[in-house]
Amino acid sequence: MPEVSRSLYFPKTAKVEIHEIRDGIYRISGFVDDYGITFNQFLVNDEQPTLIHTGPIGMYEQIEQKVKEVIPLEKLAYVAFLHFESDEWGGMEFLKAPRARLVCSDLSSKLNLTGWANVPADHTSFWDNETLSTGRRKFRFIMTPHVHHWDSMMIFEETTKSLFPSDLFIQPGNNKPVMSDDLSDNMIKLYQAVGIFASEKPVRQTVERLAKLRPEMIYPMHGSCFDSSLFSKYAHALMKNQFAYTGMLLGQKLEVS
Ligand SMILES: [Fe+2]
Ligand SMILES: [Fe+2]
Repeated sequence: MPEVSRSLYFPKTAKVEIHEIRDGIYRISGFVDDYGITFNQFLVNDEQPTLIHTGPIGMYEQIEQKVKEVIPLEKLAYVAFLHFESDEWGGMEFLKAPRARLVCSDLSSKLNLTGWANVPADHTSFWDNETLSTGRRKFRFIMTPHVHHWDSMMIFEETTKSLFPSDLFIQPGNNKPVMSDDLSDNMIKLYQAVGIFASEKPVRQTVERLAKLRPEMIYPMHGSCFDSSLFSKYAHALMKNQFAYTGMLLGQKLEVS
């Protein structure tokens, strides 16, 4: 059995950077060598500022510092996580901010937030297509079960047509905050190597639904942001390639025979 150091999973050494992408939406990103991907958080600076994903706890101090470059923590109104995983909301410390309220899917609420002793129970959950106004911005919650977790959801900000797809449209590497290069082949190879999707079907159903929203900017949790000109390429790659789990987990073959 391998010895595991928490430091591998709580990467305090990752250098975290912040860039405004557009429309008061900031990408707070750190590259983690062990995984070869960036971990991105998004701060939507509105009358009621919202943080989408918190990052793993090891990055917390740096991410908090970057949030404070834009707003005082006292202003932070919502902290949204899109499925129950440590990189999505390991930074629960943000909930110590006086106004910060946890936001999640109804499934995350029922499956995860109401059954643990030391997990904050106070939160607001959303069913599919419900919305939250934060001032000028309006978030629509899209339930995307099994892309890649049971409780997964995405957020579509309607006034700027911004899509926050969590782990969909992932790209490896430490690239620019916004990219115009098509890395969809790399995305497919990464999905094949890490095994995060049990099957293509729910992913493709979601891709078709997202296409109807006509997103103008896409903010993946891992990789670069890209605009509508690349969306169709990434969507096409997911529609035509096989990428579901076939025995590879985080780059390692699982021998089950
Ligand atoms: Fe995830
Ligand atoms: Fe993630």
